[in-house]
Amino acid sequence: MTRIAIIGGTGVYDPRVLDNVRTCSVETPYGEVDYTIGEFAGQEIAFLARHGSKHSIPPHLINYRANIWALKKIGVESILATTAVGSLVKDIPPGQFVLIDQFIDFTHSRVNTFYEGGERGVVHVDLTTPYCPELRKIVAQAAKNSGLPTTTSGTYVCTEGPRFETPAEISMFAKLGGHVVGMTNIPEAVLAREAEMCYMTISLVTNYAAGISSMPLTHSEVLDIMKENTDKLQTLLLGTLRLLHFRQKDCTCYHALKEYGGFKL
Ligand code: HPA
Repeated sequence: MTRIAIIGGTGVYDPRVLDNVRTCSVETPYGEVDYTIGEFAGQEIAFLARHGSKHSIPPHLINYRANIWALKKIGVESILATTAVGSLVKDIPPGQFVLIDQFIDFTHSRVNTFYEGGERGVVHVDLTTPYCPELRKIVAQAAKNSGLPTTTSGTYVCTEGPRFETPAEISMFAKLGGHVVGMTNIPEAVLAREAEMCYMTISLVTNYAAGISSMPLTHSEVLDIMKENTDKLQTLLLGTLRLLHFRQKDCTCYHALKEYGGFKL
């Protein structure tokens, strides 16, 4: 049984931390999803590259529903996602990990639910705690154990992309209480909650956001910082997987749709 999955974001395209990796695919109502399965410390872990293995899918065209459905279908209960983010605040510098605990959604072209009326009905999922609090504790512990520079809370502003933001937008996001900005966490986090899965994001700051940095932003700068920090990210993922291994507890995320009779594939 594959109970844990990693969704790799920008700069994280292969499951380097896993052994005996094999490629698989699974059918969903939203299309077929390719993923890999590997082993870590005797347990099977699924790995999915959010942008495709060659960063060929832009943020607004990612098949978020297919990805989450696929992981649910293969039995995944807990998802660790990685994202590259820009920082909105001077004291969260590039190279810092941020364990986000809230989000503000500025996307506008994405379907963000499995429930569009009709046969599946309508669901209003609670997101008071949008990221799994149990997983956050575990990732925070892993970060502490490995001494990595980590901010243990923060608000993620999700933009539509694929363009970077204007300084005026960044200044507004900061005034609204955002700490970091990225293009992919929504609707992924929302769909995972609808699917009653534990979901947690490890954000790595790759740059100061537009206007905070006086330099124009480039995608290669984002990739360079991701690359520089790959080893640290692997350390954090491995540390987390080690601690997750012993997690047997029930979690409120597994009952997110209790009021609606639970999530059905
Ligand atoms: N903006 C949006 N997404 C990002 C950024 C940014 O500055 N850096 C990495 N992903």
